[in-house]
Amino acid sequence: MARKWNSWRQRKRKVVAAFTPNDKFFYRAKEAGYRARSAFKLLEIQEKFRVFTKNQKVLDLWACPWSWLQVAKDNCPWWTFVWLDLQEIEPLEWISTYVCDVFSDKVWKILKENEWFMNFDVIMSDMAPKTMWIPDVDQYASVELNLEALEVMKKYLKPWWHGIFKVFRWEDFNDFWLEAKKIFPKMKTFKPKAVRPRSVEIYCIWKRI
Ligand SMILES: C[S@@+](CC[C@H](N)C(=O)[O-])C[C@H]1O[C@@H](n2cnc3c(N)ncnc32)[C@H](O)[C@@H]1O
Repeated sequence: MARKWNSWRQRKRKVVAAFTPNDKFFYRAKEAGYRARSAFKLLEIQEKFRVFTKNQKVLDLWACPWSWLQVAKDNCPWWTFVWLDLQEIEPLEWISTYVCDVFSDKVWKILKENEWFMNFDVIMSDMAPKTMWIPDVDQYASVELNLEALEVMKKYLKPWWHGIFKVFRWEDFNDFWLEAKKIFPKMKTFKPKAVRPRSVEIYCIWKRI
């Protein structure tokens, strides 16, 4: 175990060294008024896969600080948005927001209570666990979160509509990928340019044909 722990610490040093918080996407996001640089990842996904059209109902899982919702809102002229995250944001007029941990029963309670309404055209999950900068540990947490997101999609995504997942691609990636492929057999992976080059982040996109 000591050896494994040492190798984790070495990898952590490498990953931290590779991290540049304020790159060009950070400044472009500031200029464009987006709340986070991750907006550009969704813009690239939209350009390539055209997930948003109009009249859509969108569920954003783990949405804080909601830059993805800014992009979704610009791309769906008629929309309804629902938002879930561990963190609170100031109330927004145009959206229903819920604060909850995906692993708690509260998520299912919220979804169940609003079941009449919870039938989505697009569900997106840009989740990221609180990183420890230890790839094996962070990636395992990422897979766990995505398996939960998959459960939500199984139940609340309209058949054959669009789903987006962010996963850390590492040793356990297949645990998620194989499970997701059972539901979304033609799911594709995509790494937007806005993802930092050394990052293990990858997006899995299910696009209705
Ligand atoms: C990368 S951020 C999402 C960024 C967002 N898509 C945007 O563009 O602004 C990931 C989010 O996942 C949330 N998160 C992480 N673990 C969670 C959990 N167990 N339950 C709910 N939300 C969680 C965090 O609070 C964080 O806000």
